[in-house]
Amino acid sequence: MDFKAEIIKILKKEHIPEELLQAPPNPDMGDYALPCFTLAKEYKKAPQEIAKDLEKKLKPSKNIEKIVANGPYLNFFINKAQYNKEIIEAKAVKKKKSNKVITLDFSQPNIMKPFSIAHLRSTMIGNAISQILTYEGYKVIKINHLGDWGTQFGKMMYAYEAWGNKTGLMKDPMHYMTDLYVRFHKEAETSPILEDKGREWFAKLEKGDKKARAYWDLFSKLSLQYYNKTYKRLNITFDSWAGEAFYEPQLKPTIEFLQKKHLLEESEGALIVNLEKYGLTPCIVRKSDGSTIYATRDLAAAIYRAKTYNFYKNLYVVDIRQSLHFQQVFKTLELAAFPWAKDCMHIPFGTMKFEEGVMSTRKGIIIFLEDVLDKAVESVEKIIEEKNPKLKDKKKVAEQVGLGAIVFWDLSHDRIRDISFSWDKVLDFNGETGPYVQYTYARAASILRKAKGIKAKPSYEKLVKVQEKELLKQLSMYPEAIEKAAEQYKPSILARYLITLCQVFNDFYENCPCVTEPDKNLAFARLKVVEKTKATLKEGLSLLGIQAPEEM
Ligand code: ARG
Repeated sequence: MDFKAEIIKILKKEHIPEELLQAPPNPDMGDYALPCFTLAKEYKKAPQEIAKDLEKKLKPSKNIEKIVANGPYLNFFINKAQYNKEIIEAKAVKKKKSNKVITLDFSQPNIMKPFSIAHLRSTMIGNAISQILTYEGYKVIKINHLGDWGTQFGKMMYAYEAWGNKTGLMKDPMHYMTDLYVRFHKEAETSPILEDKGREWFAKLEKGDKKARAYWDLFSKLSLQYYNKTYKRLNITFDSWAGEAFYEPQLKPTIEFLQKKHLLEESEGALIVNLEKYGLTPCIVRKSDGSTIYATRDLAAAIYRAKTYNFYKNLYVVDIRQSLHFQQVFKTLELAAFPWAKDCMHIPFGTMKFEEGVMSTRKGIIIFLEDVLDKAVESVEKIIEEKNPKLKDKKKVAEQVGLGAIVFWDLSHDRIRDISFSWDKVLDFNGETGPYVQYTYARAASILRKAKGIKAKPSYEKLVKVQEKELLKQLSMYPEAIEKAAEQYKPSILARYLITLCQVFNDFYENCPCVTEPDKNLAFARLKVVEKTKATLKEGLSLLGIQAPEEM
């Protein structure tokens, strides 16, 4: 129900412009106020008199309870019971399905390498954006553009042939491959010939050499098995796993197409798109040794997505340090006169910085994501052991809260900014964290459990305390928060909303008893508000990819 619209309708009958309507500074003065000063000229009366006249003339309606003159103001009081009821009983506001397709490129780990923190950020931000856009009615195609092609494969093949063996590899594939990779780079520092060896192997792969291909299959398969464990743990799914290798057959035609459009120039043996006019360094599509690169594959991928999905928007959730790359790719698509080039968009995010020494790092360079997740879960287990050792399903709750802590920390910060990660802050149950939101959720669940026996007719008009009003207002703003998060592709807007909702709810909790309130109609109305808060927190967290335990 739009209460303001109803007041405007009443004003229209008297030809009073709706722009005059204001929100009064003090709720005692009603929910809306009409200052009568500017009407004085037309009515040829003092504003006080106009207000008095209008008070007599205007009829309250179903949802507008009272219309009262107060000096030069005319104050409108809306039907509070109706207003509160509508917020409390509002059904989910899921938007109607539209047929607008959004392709969303996210996660994109690089095969043979562990899942890095940057990939975690892309994964979680991408997943949340996908759920928020789906909620808003879009059809989202989730694409994992795997980094599964490139010279690093040649290097791994060389390293594996030189120093590796299958038994070692199969025991712990990811650590084994990482060690080989690190060793390759270390040895290449003193014997640069290794770089050539790596290139040779990659050239073999590109030419379809059987042995190289078999290695590629093996390394890719092992990496995907490893990533899938993390995806399963974080409850992430994809609609397409078309990675860089997938576009290999389309690279030649893409280059030929750009040639036909007269966009390519030769420069020191390489083929480039000159973007100097646009203040950008050139987009290289073929290196001097004839091999294609990252940008070529992104050009082919965008063209493929346009054809396959006919997207309304084509989004890339990728580290901000790749901004130039995407500018070059999008500019090239625009120069190639693809009308959809303007619908391609980079959704950048900053770096997550770690405190020195907190992480389990290997050789000081690589952070294994599962170590971070495990450590979070272990820390939560310890906290539970201290605070609530009798909790049911301790292991499951620790997993939900541990992962929730990491994911919420990531998503509650504006994605563009760099964020620092500190265990104390991330796990602080009283801070602006995932555990805080989950804890508040569990508190709401516990109130409802305790109040199970209470049954009465809810008197919504009795919800007049400041804390009740604040909570209802905050609840009414939920759809708007999701809408904004969707418009700006910023899950942080939803995460911040949830933090505020928790703060307001905890204020309410301290001041407005539910179970011990003697007026049962009021108690029941409050319980309805608790129920609504609980449902909103659960849904909001789930849009962010976080679970909410009933007890903590
Ligand atoms: N795999 C790349 C990396 O880790 C990110 C890929 C991003 N997506 C894309 N379509 N370029 O740097």
